[in-house]
Amino acid sequence: MAAPVPYDDRDGKIWFDGKLVDWRDAKVHVLTHALHYASSVFEGQRAYGGEIFELTRHSERLHKSAGIMGMEMPFSVAEIDHACRQVLEANGLSDAYVRPLAWRGAEQMGVSAQATKTHVAVAAWEWGDYFKDKETGIRLDISPWRRPAPYTAPVHAKASGLYMICTMSRHHAQGRGYDDAMMLDWRGQVAEGTGANAFFVREGKLHTPTPDCFLNGITRQTVIALAEKRGIEVVERAIWPEELEDFEQFFLTGSAAEVTAVRSAGPWNFDVGEMTRMFMADYAKLVRGQLGNG
Ligand SMILES: Cc1ncc(COP(=O)(O)O)c(C=O)c1O
Repeated sequence: MAAPVPYDDRDGKIWFDGKLVDWRDAKVHVLTHALHYASSVFEGQRAYGGEIFELTRHSERLHKSAGIMGMEMPFSVAEIDHACRQVLEANGLSDAYVRPLAWRGAEQMGVSAQATKTHVAVAAWEWGDYFKDKETGIRLDISPWRRPAPYTAPVHAKASGLYMICTMSRHHAQGRGYDDAMMLDWRGQVAEGTGANAFFVREGKLHTPTPDCFLNGITRQTVIALAEKRGIEVVERAIWPEELEDFEQFFLTGSAAEVTAVRSAGPWNFDVGEMTRMFMADYAKLVRGQLGNG
């Protein structure tokens, strides 16, 4: 397989602190605060046919995440929305992944970062299915790492620091031959995937963990709304791993992962059933503006 083109050596434009710059010039110094202390937050969203799905909700969440981290945002939600659209256009992209990022700069070094400025960048690139077996079902390991308690980390911010746990979990799973990992929370309850929320199907109902120590994903909220539209009951509650024995289907949701079927998680196996396929199809139509109001 050909090595992927490195992300710092591509053609195109990146929006950087208010203007479009050449892709290879979108650089930061090694003494950037965020690089040392994980003082950064980001977003991830997809464009379909030139339109970014739930763009403003993502820009609002970027602001909210920055606020939780005490970072002052130098650009409004509307300006971030505009930057995302500009990046798509400047790179001639219509189906793409869009990545806004806000970080504390190199104005101050040390744990205290009061004098740092918040910098913002937006990049976009073509990104196919996040999981190759999205439709046939991926295999999940159970991560030895757990989502932290809300009193130990900014769990409702899409904060880069929290992804340390996700990368370690995914690498651990991949090292054991799995596609990804399912993460438990600090109590031992089912939490989420390393970049997506979890839904289970049993007897015609959806069950999903209460998002009290992880992101209440925009895709998760979209799938709940789709379920309501179809008259399918969604039960949001604490879910213990032993319960996976009795669930018939399992799927993950996320802006990158979209709706991804899960074939197995640890010792538990699942069908890629009708309900999973229905949400996959509904979501695919909705993001392309093809789902009527009927
Ligand atoms: C850890 C984690 N959980 C859940 C999600 C799903 O969030 P969303 O649907 O807003 O993309 C993501 C993706 O952003 C994520 O990285």
